Amino acid sequence: MPVPGPGYSITVRVEAPPSATAAGDLTTAVGRTGAVITAFDVVESHADRIVVDITCNSLSADHADDITEALEALPGARVRKVSDRTFLVHLGGKIEVNSKVALANRDDLSRAYTPGVARVCTAIAKNPEDARRLTVKRSSVAVLTDGSAVLGLGNIGPEAALPVMEGKAALFKKFAGVNAWPVCLDTQDTEEIIRTAELIAPAYGGINLEDIAAPRCFEIEARLRERLNIPVFHDDQHGTAIVVLGALRNALRVVDKDLSDCRVVVCGVGAAGSAIIRLLRQKNPADIVAVDVDGIVHDGRGDTDEHLRAIAAETNAEGRTGPLGDAVRGADVFIGVSAPNLLSAEDVATMNDDAIVFALANPDPEVDPLEARRHATVVATGRSDYPNQINNVLAFPGFFRGLLDAHAHEITDEMMLAAANAIADVVDGNDRVNASFIVPSVFDSTVSPTVAEAVRRVAVSGDEAGGGGQGGAAGSSVAAAGVPGFADMEEDAGF
Ligand SMILES: NC(=O)c1ccc[n+]([C@@H]2O[C@H](COP(=O)([O-])OP(=O)(O)OC[C@H]3O[C@@H](n4cnc5c(N)ncnc54)[C@H](O)[C@@H]3O)[C@@H](O)[C@H]2O)c1
Repeated sequence: MPVPGPGYSITVRVEAPPSATAAGDLTTAVGRTGAVITAFDVVESHADRIVVDITCNSLSADHADDITEALEALPGARVRKVSDRTFLVHLGGKIEVNSKVALANRDDLSRAYTPGVARVCTAIAKNPEDARRLTVKRSSVAVLTDGSAVLGLGNIGPEAALPVMEGKAALFKKFAGVNAWPVCLDTQDTEEIIRTAELIAPAYGGINLEDIAAPRCFEIEARLRERLNIPVFHDDQHGTAIVVLGALRNALRVVDKDLSDCRVVVCGVGAAGSAIIRLLRQKNPADIVAVDVDGIVHDGRGDTDEHLRAIAAETNAEGRTGPLGDAVRGADVFIGVSAPNLLSAEDVATMNDDAIVFALANPDPEVDPLEARRHATVVATGRSDYPNQINNVLAFPGFFRGLLDAHAHEITDEMMLAAANAIADVVDGNDRVNASFIVPSVFDSTVSPTVAEAVRRVAVSGDEAGGGGQGGAAGSSVAAAGVPGFADMEEDAGF
C-alpha cells in the first residue's frame, strides 16, 4: 500500500480562531486524512486569528484536496494557499553556473578574460589536450537526452526531460564535484543525435547519455564510443548494471552462495537488463535466463531483433522456454528491470532456497517486496521506502569523477567491475553486510570517492598497459614550458 512521501509534500497556509485547542484541531484534521505532518509553523498571530503553515507528506493531488477540505470543515478555519513543495523547488531551475575566479577589478578581468586569456587559448591551440587542464573540460559532463524514455513517463520530449537532467546535474555536483550540464535535444533521429554529440564534445570530459529509448540507445552509445575521444556512458544501462552487480556480490555473501553455482533470471532486456546481462556474464554465473514481454528469450523464438538474438546466443544454456513463472522455478536470483507486478509470492516460493530477488521496476516493482520477503532471503528494490535501494546515484557520480581524474578516453568492463566491487566493499569492508543492508546509503559520503578511486586506478593502469594515454603531464605543452603554479592546479582535481 502506498504511503505519503516527500515527493508529494505540500504546505497549507490556513487561518483559524486563536483558541487553546487550535493547533490540536488543525493537526488532527490533517492527520485523519492519512497525511504525515512534518512541520507546523505559526506565521502570524492576531487577537482574532492565527495563521499557520502546515507542511505534510501526501499521496496525490486528490489527497491534497482532501486535506484542504478537512481543514476548511473546521469552524472558523480558512485555507489561504496550498503550495506544492516539489514545484517550489523547481522554480527557476535547480542548477546554475558560478565563477571560480575573482572578477573584482581590471587586473582580475585581464587575467580571467582578455587580454590574458588569449595566451591560454594559444597554448590550447598548440596542444588541444591542454584543454583538460586549463578549462572546465577537466570536470565537465554533458547529460544528453532526446527525451524519449524519461523515468517511467515514456517519450515526453526534450523540454519535459529537463527537470530530470537538471536533477542529474545537481547530483553529479553534490556527490562528485562534477560540472554536468543538461543537453536536451530536439530530435529523436539517431544520426542527428550522434552528430550533435560529436559537435559538442570538445567542451566536455565525458558524455552521460540519459533516458534515450532502447534499442536506439545501444547504437548511439556504440557509435559515439567509436568516434569520440571522451568516455560515453549510458547511465540507464551501465549505472544500473554496476550497482546491481555490487549489490548481488553482497547478497550472495548473505546467502553464502557462489555466483558460479547460481542460475540468474533477468526479467527485462531493454536498456538496463541488457547491460546487467553483459556485466554479469563477466562473473560467470552457472546460467542466465533472460525474459522479456514475450517470455523466456531463446534461440528458437525467431526474434528478428539483432540485440535479442545476441542475448539468446549468450544466455539460457539449457534452452528453457515458456513464461516468466517457468524461468524463476528453481532459480537462485531474480533481477527484474521490466514492469510492475509480474511475479507473485507463490512464484518466489518456487525459487531455490535462500532466493535473492531484485525487483527494480519503478515506481512499482515486479513483485511486492513484503510478499517476496516471505519466501526470499534478500530482497532489493529501486525504492527509497524499503531496505536495499538499488540506486544509480551510488555509481555514476564517482564513476565519472574517476574517468575525469584519469583523463580517460574510453570505458571498459574492468572499470565497471571495479566500480561494482567498490560499492560492495563500502558495506562489506567492515563486515556490515546483512539481508537488509547489501548496498550503502546514497548519502554515505565514502561511496563516491571510493568508486572514483577504483575507476581511476583501472583507467590509469589500462593507459599504462596500452603504452600511456594522451593525458599524462608529459603531454602538456604548458607543463613542459614550466608555467609557475601548474602543479597547484593539478592538485585541484575536484575532491
Ligand atoms: N536502479 C533502479 O532501480 C533501476 C535502474 C534502471 C531501470 N529501472 C527500472 O527498470 C525498468 C526497465 O527499465 P529500462 O530502461 O531497461 O526499460 P526498457 O523499456 O529499455 O526495457 C523494458 C524491458 O522490460 C520488458 N518487459 C516489459 N513488460 C514486460 C512483461 N510484462 N514481462 C516481461 N518483460 C517485460 C520489455 O520487453 C523490455 O525488454 C523500469 O521500470 C525502470 O524504472 C530501475
